[in-house]
Amino acid sequence: MRRNAEILIGAQWGDEGKGRVVDALAGQSDVIVRYQGGANAGHTVIVGGEEYVFHILPSGMLYTGKLCIIGNGVVIDPEQLLSELQGLQQEGKDRARLLISRDAHVVFPYHKTLDGADEVFRGKEHVIGTTKRGIGPCYVDKYNRTGITMGDLTNPDVLREKLSRNLKKVNLLLARIYSLNPLPFDTMYQNALEVGTKLAPYLGDASLEVNKALGEGKKVLLEGAQGTLLDVDFGTYPYVTSSNPTAAGACIGTGVGPTKIDRVIGVVKAYCTRVGEGPFPTEDCGEEGEGLRQKGGEYGATTGRPRRCGWLDMVALRYAVRVNGMDSIALTKLDVLSGQKEIRVALKYLVDGEEMCEFIPSASVLEKVEPVYTLLPGWDEDISKCRSFEELPKAAREYVSFIEEVSGVPVQMIGVGPGREETIFRDL
Ligand code: GDP
Ligand code: IMO
Ligand code: MG
Repeated sequence: MRRNAEILIGAQWGDEGKGRVVDALAGQSDVIVRYQGGANAGHTVIVGGEEYVFHILPSGMLYTGKLCIIGNGVVIDPEQLLSELQGLQQEGKDRARLLISRDAHVVFPYHKTLDGADEVFRGKEHVIGTTKRGIGPCYVDKYNRTGITMGDLTNPDVLREKLSRNLKKVNLLLARIYSLNPLPFDTMYQNALEVGTKLAPYLGDASLEVNKALGEGKKVLLEGAQGTLLDVDFGTYPYVTSSNPTAAGACIGTGVGPTKIDRVIGVVKAYCTRVGEGPFPTEDCGEEGEGLRQKGGEYGATTGRPRRCGWLDMVALRYAVRVNGMDSIALTKLDVLSGQKEIRVALKYLVDGEEMCEFIPSASVLEKVEPVYTLLPGWDEDISKCRSFEELPKAAREYVSFIEEVSGVPVQMIGVGPGREETIFRDL
């Protein structure tokens, strides 16, 4: 049974299939809200064989009559947002109403320049492998209290003052630290004013609207980007993103109080992937990992980079259950495991010969762990036509039950293919 306020989060390193799960649930939701991250996200939705990738827009945009909200916690590249929106408009597919929090912070071109420059500055040893979408530098400005909000874009004087102040400092940094050319003020200011004018009709008070909807008994789905292990507080620091993709981030990034949340759905891929640098205990750099990449089409939806592939990590999943208060699992890409003779799952780690059963996210610890695998029987059947749990082969059912048992969380939805219909609903 659907609840009124639900948070949907990625339980691993992102790209778990959040977009397609939101799409599957959005039909029965009234409001869909993105609450953190920015255009570093790439959420794929496939409807009627057609593929859409949402970077900033909530993944409910294809539904008529819904309200899609970009919350205060999101960092918005306005030009990217506009091009995404216009892309949908041109095809007549911007079916939902869009509301953008006027308090969401703006990603400027200089944030992207700094993102790239900082990666070079870190050197090969410490590079994070960011998406170069300016996410980190934009959140730095926000927490440094020098950020510029979407609301500011509609006020020429305020924008001029804030942008010129910021650019003065950025250009000093570019010249003196990064040996790069300065960025001109005028074009950046004019462009920002222009996109601000175009986006002005969508700006409003997101928290007020969401709480009003909840007060009227409407169903609200809060759509996380990235994943638990990329969370700046709970992820494999420093190889993380600069926001809180975990469930608590939804309250901060939307302006909804924790007492209003009814359920936290964790999206879990049936195996594991990661893009960018950082520890990944169950990574499989051999043929089987390559097999997962090919079969699962594991290439980034935002940067096109090949995703690193490996096996389901129950130590990390139990941690994700804990830090999110996850009470429901949406398991995706189960079909990708068809044909696998045996499926490896990590149940614990070894560090210097000692057993480690609790996940310690710090990269310096995690880099040293060795996963201890359990082998589960695989299945050969194509499961993409299955629409009920009972239709799945016995070994696939047992794999799902195993995940439920070890995580302590019911698997209430299963993805057996990327399309909207290729979904098994249990009691979600
Ligand atoms: P997100 O960032 O969490 O929304 O995930 P992405 O869209 O970046 O990556 C997930 C990829 O897996 C996309 O290409 C989806 O179309 C695809 N996908 C999602 N669920 C399933 C599934 O159950 N089966 C298969 N085969 N593909 C899926
Ligand atoms: P969705 O929402 C997978 C990763 C980057 C890099 C790190 C920091 O599609 O699941 P950033 O640009 O955020 O500063 O990069 O985080 N990353 C993602 N990986 N899916 C994502 O989003 C990601 N967003 C950021 O690859 O390792
Ligand atoms: Mg993605």
